[in-house]
Amino acid sequence: MGFSTDSIHVGQEPDPATGAVVAPIYQTSTYVLEAMDKSKGYDYARTNHPNRKALERTIAKLEGGKASYVFTSGMAAIDSVFRLLRPGDHAIISEAVYGGVFRLTTNLLTDFGLAFSFVDTSSLKKVKQALRPSTKMVYVETPTNPTMIVTDLAEISRFARDHKLRLIVDNTFLSPYLQRPIEFGADIVVHSMTKYLNGHSDCTGGAVVLTQAEEGDKIYFIQRSAGAGLAPMDCFLTSRGIKTLAVRMERHNSNGQAVAEFLASHRKVKRVIYPGLKSHPQHKLAAKQQRGFGAMITFELKSMSAARTLLDGVRLCSLAESLGGVETLISHPASMTHASMPPDIRKQVGITDEMIRISVGIEDVEDITADLDRALAKV
Ligand SMILES: Cc1ncc(COP(=O)(O)O)c(C=O)c1O
Repeated sequence: MGFSTDSIHVGQEPDPATGAVVAPIYQTSTYVLEAMDKSKGYDYARTNHPNRKALERTIAKLEGGKASYVFTSGMAAIDSVFRLLRPGDHAIISEAVYGGVFRLTTNLLTDFGLAFSFVDTSSLKKVKQALRPSTKMVYVETPTNPTMIVTDLAEISRFARDHKLRLIVDNTFLSPYLQRPIEFGADIVVHSMTKYLNGHSDCTGGAVVLTQAEEGDKIYFIQRSAGAGLAPMDCFLTSRGIKTLAVRMERHNSNGQAVAEFLASHRKVKRVIYPGLKSHPQHKLAAKQQRGFGAMITFELKSMSAARTLLDGVRLCSLAESLGGVETLISHPASMTHASMPPDIRKQVGITDEMIRISVGIEDVEDITADLDRALAKV
């Protein structure tokens, strides 16, 4: 079936007990056994529950994976993937990665004997230079948050295969509607479901999508042992959000393009970084591997104080962390999402103090541009 049909029906069959079209929220921590060693498939909600199982089936289908496991946040999902490594192993990570991934790896996981190199993964040459005998994984965010650098998924997956590395792709910024990394050879896809998959900013969540059954068993072992599986209510909310993913993403795409073009033509804006603009150095690559350019836009004003004036001046756009919801959110990466990155590293990867990131929502686009225009007038 098509993507929209799958988003609405896979994992979302009517409840067999009552016929309810929307399955209930199984708000229980434990399940009564019929007899010793005889359950109806569930025993304890940390281990599994029907809402989680349903959502995991949907996500695996939409990403084209064999299995999926959902967690309490994107970071919990990503942490479980790094736990596939063993002390002494090394991973190569996109350098302008989400700040939380930078913090998790450099401030926590290195204490457990893992090593990480942060590299511009859009350059195969640089990835090759970072390769060590102990390298086991390449972890790619494409486009990167917030610098919007696009990595060639087909090229990097060939490289990973040739060197027996696992390729992990964070697909948060686009969702499976706009990009399906497994089709390009990715081994594992991760998501912050908090963003487009949920789409309504009403719970956090994360997903790991696997292409190998054995690796899936390991992630499930981590999920049920460490206890970061997503709770019933949050699974329900995310499943509900996914049903409208395709229509939301179409509107995010058209609004994203319109806002990017508005900003690019505004005299107070120094630079706009959006893969849907021809000025983006990887516009053609993005057009090749993505079904659309999405709604994440990064732009620079002429100074940090100009950025502050704009952020203080918007009314419809909310100054907030996060992205991917129906409402437009605007943020200052250097002091918000990427504050955990030391200033010299931020500078090295191109995150400037005058940089603003906008997650364009699905409101009427004229209202979004009018709000930005009003706030820019104060700059
Ligand atoms: C690209 C990306 N990956 C992962 C995460 C982490 O997800 P969560 O906040 O759900 O833990 C984020 C959060 O902003 C993100 O933007």
